[in-house]
Amino acid sequence: MRQRTYFMIKPDGVQRDLIGEVVRRIEMKGYKICAMKMLRISREMAIEHYEEHMNKPFFYDLVEFITSGPVVAMVLEGENAVDGIRGMMGMTDPKASASGTLRGDFGINLSRNVVHGSDSPASAEREISIFFRPEEILDFTRNDEKWLYPEEK
Ligand code: RTP
Ligand code: MG
Repeated sequence: MRQRTYFMIKPDGVQRDLIGEVVRRIEMKGYKICAMKMLRISREMAIEHYEEHMNKPFFYDLVEFITSGPVVAMVLEGENAVDGIRGMMGMTDPKASASGTLRGDFGINLSRNVVHGSDSPASAEREISIFFRPEEILDFTRNDEKWLYPEEK
């Protein structure tokens, strides 16, 4: 089933010139970029985004880090996009992530793991609404969809 997910290149990914490579991998896989923008996340947005971690010892550091510089926020669409993107990302800790995954190839430190992706369809809906207004999310057909989804005539 086609799904939408929220995906973000974190401040370390932007500072380390990884935007192009990350976007390249997403496009090559076949996920559709329905919305994309660069922004500096406010403290309020960061707290809302990471509300599930509010009581964790690392919460303060998480908010400090994610607000420390620009991020690239995206809405991605495709078959099984939520789990598919999490698979492309690897494990939370880059050290435990396989080569070939974004965190496995580009990360070293648990708290600087380059990318974020929603962990469930419900999180995706919640996170998309934090970062994007409905009119910023574009409905269009990509030229290669007939190859990616041959069963959809
Ligand atoms: P994310 O939300 O950023 O996509 O990462 P995730 O689902 O793989 O991991 P999650 O459990 O949601 O944790 C959010 C971020 O918090 C940092 N973290 N630090 N010090 C620690 O023990 C610890 N545990 C998690 C990570 O940077 C993780 O991405
Ligand atoms: Mg998470």
